[in-house]
Amino acid sequence: MCGIFAYLNYNVNRERRYILQVLFNGLRRLEYRGYDSAGIAIDSSVSRDPKSSQPSSDQIAPTPLVFRQEGNIESLVKSVYQEVAEIDLNLEESFSLHAGMAHTRWATHGEPAPRNSHPQTSGTGNEFLVVHNGVVTNYEVLKETLVRHGFTFESETDTEVIPKLAKFVFDKANEEEGNEAVTFSQVVLEVMRHLEGAYALIFKSRHYPNELIACKRGSPLLLGVKEATENTGNGPAFHDNKFISKNGHPKELFLSSDANAVVEHTKKVLVIEDNEVVHLKDGGVSILKFDSDRGKHGVSLSRPASVQRALSVLEMEVEQINKGHYEHYMQKEIHEQPESLTTTMRGRLIRGGSSKAKTVLLGGLKDHLKTIRRSRRIVFIGCGTSYNAALAARPILEELSGVPVTMEIASDLLDRQGPICREDTAVFVSQSGETADTLHALQYALENGALCVGITNTVGSEIARNTDCGIHINAGAEIGVASTKAYTSQIVVMAMLALAIGGDTISSQARREAIIDGLFGLPNKVREVLKLDQEMKDLAKLLIAEQSLLVFGRGYNYATALEGALKVKEVALMHSEGILAGEMKHGPLALVDENLPILVIATRDSCFSKQQSVIQQLHARRGRLIVICSKGDAASVCLGGSSRVIEVPQVEDCLQPVVNIIPLQLLAYHLTVLRGFNVDQPRNLAKSVTTE
Ligand code: F6R
Repeated sequence: MCGIFAYLNYNVNRERRYILQVLFNGLRRLEYRGYDSAGIAIDSSVSRDPKSSQPSSDQIAPTPLVFRQEGNIESLVKSVYQEVAEIDLNLEESFSLHAGMAHTRWATHGEPAPRNSHPQTSGTGNEFLVVHNGVVTNYEVLKETLVRHGFTFESETDTEVIPKLAKFVFDKANEEEGNEAVTFSQVVLEVMRHLEGAYALIFKSRHYPNELIACKRGSPLLLGVKEATENTGNGPAFHDNKFISKNGHPKELFLSSDANAVVEHTKKVLVIEDNEVVHLKDGGVSILKFDSDRGKHGVSLSRPASVQRALSVLEMEVEQINKGHYEHYMQKEIHEQPESLTTTMRGRLIRGGSSKAKTVLLGGLKDHLKTIRRSRRIVFIGCGTSYNAALAARPILEELSGVPVTMEIASDLLDRQGPICREDTAVFVSQSGETADTLHALQYALENGALCVGITNTVGSEIARNTDCGIHINAGAEIGVASTKAYTSQIVVMAMLALAIGGDTISSQARREAIIDGLFGLPNKVREVLKLDQEMKDLAKLLIAEQSLLVFGRGYNYATALEGALKVKEVALMHSEGILAGEMKHGPLALVDENLPILVIATRDSCFSKQQSVIQQLHARRGRLIVICSKGDAASVCLGGSSRVIEVPQVEDCLQPVVNIIPLQLLAYHLTVLRGFNVDQPRNLAKSVTTE
């Protein structure tokens, strides 16, 4: 939720037009994180020669220009170019050193409006500017204090306290320290000392022109480094993969909430860790560690220890984050599931041979499998689609491992402070790896001593880094706000987890081998089911004006019912409810009439005959039925002319949810497009829910 981005070019000439483009493109890549409003800050003119020394506080640079706009990124772009023309700002003006920042917002405090958009400012003159992803939980107390010191506030945001606090700290430090100028990082470290909550922040200041500072606690942030050496071959800037960015070297530096906005510029990144303060100055990058115990009183001018860490190389390709020939990301991501599933399984399934058994290798778990097998229970924890994926995998995990498996929605576990103990294995499922509720539940489980396993799609994410062990789902970047390919890859990862935990006994061998064969064959089955695209579009045309859709499932496909209904409601903005078919007679049956569309999942598994009787009971009440069944079963599930049947290929029962969700994803997609809604940016939602 919210995307932050910054771009600093050092000793590389860049025109203002280019700088704006980099900032706008960065925001376009992050837009899926929030699209209520957006803003940027750039310099008004060349403020100082990169080779000159640091200005003292009285040599204040020209006021940075701030542009903020309600609506999506394209509204911001339009308004910036309009304003630029009005104030006659020269787009060809060239900067050999420039620091710009940008933000795309998902509103938490205050409605979408320019005054609530970021960058937020310290006041007239834009002495300090801040872009923020996260929530400052103690902002009210800070605001009261700042108001008492004469500050006035123009927004309803929690963020506004941050630049104002920076100005307060700066002014106070300069008063106290006399001639010794306080550094930008000292100001930020002091600000951090007062902030509670979760945040990733980027600071820009007139007092420190052409410098940027980033810091984080809880929310994601990374630094991208593009050295001129990458283009000119002037010599390496990284030795032994240790990050030793030199001052004076021409370079372009990027700060971003995620890798999507960086990969088109450079693959060299540093994932910034909690409590680190990254200072970009004079072409150098220094990383300091915030220590909450230092400087308890007044403004601390002490120098914290600097950090050297290894640089990572992104494994991502730019093509992954483009739409290719598709109209929407959701459409692309639905259709690329045969490939994403293949990548998820790559190197993890052993085919077997004359001497080798078919088996599964999950490197990230190898030292922990014994502990997991001995757990008192396995508890799956996640939110939304990730929770549904875990629910789909639960039966096979119970069957193969023999360990009791329970399910927890992260926020509910926290609300109840439900019991988690040392003998538990807690499995955290999250596409983004940064969902606030799931992260808090992880902290809770760690505090309670459980073994914590992460299943995420984001290498280097908070969940990936803070769990004891884990499995990456490797589905590739998922940009559509509605999760599709991550869901199917999560189920496959958890099926592999079940195989890895389950004992390789003679009695279970045939079942295990059937599942492994099923996994090998799954991408082709998914390819086959994707051919239902037109059929699902036709169905969407029939349902376009409906108010509501019920989805009944049970067993392995209770999760499919929940997930299908979630897709329809979140993108097509149509009420939809996933219902456990076994509960039908206990209430939902009252809703059934000849008008309400009801989708029943009745593919072949041990629940098939029960689902047949559900269909009969619905039919007897003249229910308007749509049935998803296994190929060849149409006659057994279609009881009259009114039912519509969708046939899908049959696979091993525990993998059937992967196949069955696809017609529902296609239905949700087409319904949304036909109803004229934005499929990639559903109303009020954002991809990564980094606030509670
Ligand atoms: C729905 C959807 C959400 C997420 C949920 C958890 O399509 O995407 O329900 O599944 O917000 O997100 P992650 O998996 O990133 O923890």
